[in-house]
Amino acid sequence: MRLLQLGLLLSLASGFAAIIIYITGVSNPSVYENYQLTDEDVEALISLRNSFQQCVSANGLGLKAVGGRDYCQITINFPSDTIPKWRDPKTGELEALSFDFNLCEAVATWEQVRNSTTILTKEFIDSLPNGWEEYAWQRINKGVLLNRCENKTLCMEKLSLVLPETPPYTPRQFGRCAVIGNSGDLLKTKFGKEIDGYDAVIRENGAPTENYTDYVGKKSTFRLLNRGSAKALDKVVELDEQRKEVLIVKTTIHDIMSKMIRELPIKNPVYLMLGASFGSAAKGTGLKALEFALSICESVDMYGFTVDPGYKEWTRYFSESRKGHTPLHGRAYYQMMECLGLIRIHSPMRADPNRVVKSVPSHHIISAARIASEKLLRRHSHLHIRPLSNFSLIKFRRKFHAPARATLVSQILPHTAYTTFHLLYPHAN
Ligand SMILES: *[C@@H]1O[C@H](CO)[C@@H](O)[C@H](O)[C@H]1NC(C)=O
Ligand SMILES: *[C@@H]1O[C@H](CO)[C@@H](O)[C@H](O)[C@H]1NC(C)=O
Ligand SMILES: *[C@@H]1O[C@H](CO)[C@@H](O)[C@H](O)[C@H]1NC(C)=O
Ligand SMILES: *[C@@H]1O[C@H](CO)[C@@H](O)[C@H](O)[C@H]1NC(C)=O
Repeated sequence: MRLLQLGLLLSLASGFAAIIIYITGVSNPSVYENYQLTDEDVEALISLRNSFQQCVSANGLGLKAVGGRDYCQITINFPSDTIPKWRDPKTGELEALSFDFNLCEAVATWEQVRNSTTILTKEFIDSLPNGWEEYAWQRINKGVLLNRCENKTLCMEKLSLVLPETPPYTPRQFGRCAVIGNSGDLLKTKFGKEIDGYDAVIRENGAPTENYTDYVGKKSTFRLLNRGSAKALDKVVELDEQRKEVLIVKTTIHDIMSKMIRELPIKNPVYLMLGASFGSAAKGTGLKALEFALSICESVDMYGFTVDPGYKEWTRYFSESRKGHTPLHGRAYYQMMECLGLIRIHSPMRADPNRVVKSVPSHHIISAARIASEKLLRRHSHLHIRPLSNFSLIKFRRKFHAPARATLVSQILPHTAYTTFHLLYPHAN
């Protein structure tokens, strides 16, 4: 069994080196009042868990969620006759059939994502204490040679092509969004027309649409890129005939990329992603793409990410050779997301476009559970987390076109009073 602790250093296991800026709200003592859970809080957590368990049974194609030792812990089990096929290349072990998750952390953390923009901006770096010295260089390939941006001009130059002043997108700016994974399962169902009907479509890495439009559609609004794909930016832009796709790089800016953007020239907007860490299930580009979608869309549907029962092997729809990783862990995690009302899963066995996710916890239950979860997590962080800096929250408030919504800086900070927020920089990928 694996314990998935959202926002903890397990992300190291996912191939990220997480250098962390702990942002905590010590400067605001009121944040620490009212840790005690009221009866309503406890009830909310119990309701969430009950409703979540029902939802997993009703939609999980055989998955079952079992409550753990406290209100927050949940274990998602696969039927015992499931045959795991994926082996951890490091340990040689087959994947487990049982995965632990923390519902409280998930509810609170994903809510933050929904209200944040996840594009790295100059404003964001400027607003961190020592943002340039402590953080900016990490988003530059070989940034370590820049001596913590000793020459800030040089650092800014390196980032300039991908660093907008302020967030280019706002929370819920787009209505219905589809995030398209690369699973070979996509070739089992002709989702193309359905996918093209979304307001925005988010794809990953080198996923083509040409020759596969019946299955994956042709609309493409955003593309999330890992390190490898980002270095082949010239090839990636050819995947979209319109050359309008917005490219979001989840790793570092590389001189090769800058050169291509300048000299080819690449006209597509290119940004770096700023994201939170969700632990080891958040491996790879898939969950990053969902995170990005949840930060800018009203609703998020996902295609081609998950394995249905009886999967043989997780391949890519456009190449035989590349294999996915941790398919069962991923499936359990995505099922959790669906049963927290975050996404809707589409797969060969869940192909009805009008499928309604049954027994999903109501908004009322989720928001009550979130309030309780935030109290719990705050209490936890008060005891265990030593803040690096003394942060004024007010300083970072800024207004958006849509006044109720706010940037990562202004919205995340008040709520990270209770938890660690991880700024990731990429490592090998
Ligand atoms: C997120 O935004 C919604 C709507 O604007 C608001 O009701 C909710 O309280 C916000 N949540 C957080 C964690 O800021
Ligand atoms: C800092 O970098 C800029 C841009 O490359 C360069 O023109 C300048 O000479 C550098 N300054 C120092 C003190 O090295
Ligand atoms: C589509 O198919 C044609 C003909 O087989 C091939 O030349 C082309 O490279 C394919 N495009 C992609 C993106 O795979
Ligand atoms: C926090 O910052 C303020 C203003 O910069 C300063 O006056 C105060 O002493 C700091 N508090 C701590 C605990 O460092």
